[in-house]
Amino acid sequence: MLMAPQKAAEAAGNAADAVQQAAQAAPAAAEAGKEALGPLAGAPWDTLTPWSTLPQASTFAGNTDTLYLFIVALAVFFFLLVMGVQGYFMWKYRRLSEDQKTSSITHNGKVEFLWSAIPAVLLVVIFVWGEVDFLKQTIPPTDAVQVRVTGRQWFWTVDYPDYPGVQLTSSVEESSVTLVVPKGEPVQLTMTSEDVLHDFYIPAFRIKRDVIPGRYTTLWFEATQVGEFNLYCAEYCGDQHSSMIGVVKVLEPANFAAYLAEAGKLEQEPNEPLPVFGERIYKKRGCNACHSTDGSPKVGPSWKALWGKNESTDKGSVTVDDNYITESIWEPNAQIVSGFEGVKMPSYKGQLDEKQIAALIEYMKTLK
Ligand code: CUA
Repeated sequence: MLMAPQKAAEAAGNAADAVQQAAQAAPAAAEAGKEALGPLAGAPWDTLTPWSTLPQASTFAGNTDTLYLFIVALAVFFFLLVMGVQGYFMWKYRRLSEDQKTSSITHNGKVEFLWSAIPAVLLVVIFVWGEVDFLKQTIPPTDAVQVRVTGRQWFWTVDYPDYPGVQLTSSVEESSVTLVVPKGEPVQLTMTSEDVLHDFYIPAFRIKRDVIPGRYTTLWFEATQVGEFNLYCAEYCGDQHSSMIGVVKVLEPANFAAYLAEAGKLEQEPNEPLPVFGERIYKKRGCNACHSTDGSPKVGPSWKALWGKNESTDKGSVTVDDNYITESIWEPNAQIVSGFEGVKMPSYKGQLDEKQIAALIEYMKTLK
């Protein structure tokens, strides 16, 4: 970029001003950021600046970070050592005159033994250290709070066997509280997938494991800080993979049960119109992952102007009415709308009751 000197100086001045303003704004932004970090305000960042490290919010986090730093320090030390020695030898043994001959040393047994043995010992140290931590993370304590996690394209469903009726989900449209756990108590997740490979990842806890269709995998952790932390799907699982995010909320054990009961219920509020309740279900039970309400194409048919429409399906034409919608929720693959044959929607049998289905239908009717 060519600039007249005066212009360049002006531009530099402006840039300096901008930097100064940014610096002044930073503490305010950090404060605002901390506030906004509550519901995460749709911003999936784990830290406020790219330079700060992730919070260490579980009992595993400290050990994992220490091992990581140990490996980084080792790598830096040996990089500097090898490069330093190389540079020194290049200088020391440089060619001094035209007729200088290279000496005929072929090898040095002692040195070669050391440069094999020392790294071998260090690698074993790293392996044993990692293995001990890995075993700790693999074997959950028997008194852990039990949580069942199901991955679906593209949301998480979280159930608590000891709290019947409570179900939390993630949502592709907002980062909502998806997992509630007590501080200072072990929590065990038993995870599976209804469709493809997903991967359950909570960076602040330093835990991550694949979620596999047709198999159960487990994870456990003990949270050490009250607060909210992001969870992600860390395995590319299709179109909306990057929206498969949620929030882990860590509470004081005394508040856990009450909060969970409140957050996990999906009931019509007093005076709440049925279509409004239906919209809440649409957002909280993952319908929005595959069905738009504005006519735009997604993985499944849009709900816009769907009610009363004549759809052609793989079993013939059908009018979209209460029966067809209920059937499509319970047995999604009974009559598949033309053009969506390859899509495998999971059944919601047992997950939505009659009232919730009625609310969804009333909501659909409003989408003209
Ligand atoms: Cu689920 Cu990526």
